[in-house]
Amino acid sequence: MIVSPSVLSADFANLQRDVEMLNDSQAQWIHVDVMDGVFVPNISFGIPVTAAIAKHAKKVMDVHLMIVNPDAYIEEFKNAGAEYLTVHYEACTHLHRTVQSIHHHGMKAGVALNPHTPVAVLKDILGDLDLVLIMSVNPGFGGQKFIERTYDKIKALKAMIVEGGYATLIEVDGGVNAENAVLLKEAGADALVAGNYVFKHENPHEAITLIINC
Ligand code: DX5
Ligand code: ZN
Repeated sequence: MIVSPSVLSADFANLQRDVEMLNDSQAQWIHVDVMDGVFVPNISFGIPVTAAIAKHAKKVMDVHLMIVNPDAYIEEFKNAGAEYLTVHYEACTHLHRTVQSIHHHGMKAGVALNPHTPVAVLKDILGDLDLVLIMSVNPGFGGQKFIERTYDKIKALKAMIVEGGYATLIEVDGGVNAENAVLLKEAGADALVAGNYVFKHENPHEAITLIINC
C-alpha cells in the first residue's frame, strides 16, 4: 500500500521538521492539500508553501488542488515541485483539456471526486488518468469522519479500470486509519492519504507503517 501523509495536519510553524520526519519514515508519497476558500470552505496554503515543502521533501509530491480554475496554476505547481497533480472533477468544465495540460507539463494527472460524484462520470477519461482520488469526506478539513459508502465506489471504479485494462491508481482521502485501511485495500485502493491519523498519533512512523502493512 502506498501511504501519502497529508501535511495539512502537520505543525505549520515546524513544516521542515515535519517533512523531515516523513522523509525518515516509510511513507512513499507526501500529500499537499491546497485550498482556495472558494471551491472548499477553508483556506490552507498555496504555491510558495508547496515549493517550500518540496525543497525538503524526499518523497513523491502528491498535490491535491481544491481550487476553482486549476488550469491557471498548472505550470506554477509544476515549478513548485508537484509530481502528481490532482484536480477536482467538480471544478473543471473542460476536464480532458486540463488533464492534457498536466501531462504536457510533465506531471502525472489525477482527478478527485467529491463524495456525491459517481465514479461513472470518469468512464470516457479514465484511460488518460494516472490517478483517481476518491474523497471519503467532504473536502476542506482534516479530521473528519470516514464515509462508509466509499467502499462501494472504490469497487465500482476498480471494475472500470480492470475492464479497460488501465494502469490508473486509486487513492482514497479522508478519515483513513489503520483499521479501515484493510477494507480499503480489499476494495481496490492503491494509495491512502492520512492526515490526522499520522500526525496526531503518538508515534507517526508506526502509524505510517501500520497503514503500509494493512
Ligand atoms: C481534506 C483533505 C485531506 C485531509 C485528510 O479536504 O483533502 O487530504 O488532509 O485528513 P484526515 O486524514 O485527517 O481526514
Ligand atoms: Zn487531500
